[in-house]
Formats: sequence, structure tokens, C-alpha cells
Amino acid sequence: MFRTGFGFDTHRLEVNHDFRLGGVLVPHEKGATGHSDADVLIHAICDAMLGAAGLRDIGTQFPDTSPEFRNIDSKVLLKRTLDLIQSKGYRIGNLDTTVVLQSPKISSFISEMVRTLAGVLETDESRISVKAKTSEKLGFIGREEGVSAYAIVLLETT
Ligand code: CDP
Ligand code: ZN
Repeated sequence: MFRTGFGFDTHRLEVNHDFRLGGVLVPHEKGATGHSDADVLIHAICDAMLGAAGLRDIGTQFPDTSPEFRNIDSKVLLKRTLDLIQSKGYRIGNLDTTVVLQSPKISSFISEMVRTLAGVLETDESRISVKAKTSEKLGFIGREEGVSAYAIVLLETT
């Protein structure tokens, strides 16, 4: 059996914050802010996986009100999300994602993101795709006030 899931996330970008994207530290004068380490790409991926498995969403599974999850490495949340879908009898078929970010260009970091995500998800890099777009300088992303990410996943029954 197959199940699809979709995830979306947005975080603010502010100076003096680390910018973690897909588990990779991207050098930039601004970084994403919010709960955990604010890794917008991993959060979108977790939501896609949880949605596909009928397990609600990241905020329900890992509440940001819980001290356990404050400033947590989002790779830990991704691993826990994998554990949850595996316990329901699913594995990843493929995962496709898009980061919407005006600046910086992240194409040189994408292979490292794919490697990192595949490692956490215990799957082959060929099943993972990370793409990037600007918003053509429009809106909050264009003003470099924030970053968004979209993810779609196919789960297969094991
Ligand atoms: O040309 P098009 O409108 O399709 O896309 P764009 O938003 O102008 O981005 C052009 C290319 O830059 C993308 O296809 C990505 O490969 C790359 N890109 C990137 O590496 N990092 C970003 N933050 C945005 C885009
Ligand atoms: Zn988030």
C-alpha cells in the first residue's frame, strides 16, 4: 500500500542566529528563529511523513511547550518521526522538497543536505530530493524576513 503526505513550514530569519537547513549549517548573516533549532526543511519533511501516516503533525507529536524539545536538533525530531512511521509499518518510497529562500543561494549545500537527510532517514540518497527557489524578491521571503519549505513524501508499507 502507498500513502502520500504533504508538509509546509515557515520560520523568521533574524541576525545572530544559526541557519540550519536540512541538518546542514548554512553560513549567512541571518538564521531561522523559532522552536527547536528552527530547521524549516526538516520540519516540513516531518509534517509530510506524519501526515502520510495519519499521525497529525510535528507540533502534536513534539510540542514546543515541552522543555524536552526546546532548542533540540531537528535531526532528532526527524529520527523520532522515522521511528513513528516505522512502528506503523511504513518506509519511505521517496521524498521531494522545495526550500523557498531569497538569499543565500544554497545549491552548493544541497548534496550535503541530501546526504544528511538520507543518513537520518536510513534510506538511499536516490530517494531524497531537495530543490531551492527564490520568491523573485516578492513578499516576506523576498524581503529576506523569512524562509519556507514544502515537502511531499510517498510511504510504502513494509
Ligand atoms: O529561475 P526560477 O524562477 O525557476 O528560479 P529562481 O527562484 O530564480 O532560482 C533559480 C535557481 O537558483 C534555482 O533553480 C535553484 O537551483 C537556485 N537557488 C538556490 O540555490 N538557492 C536559493 N535560495 C534559491 C534558488
Ligand atoms: Zn518549524
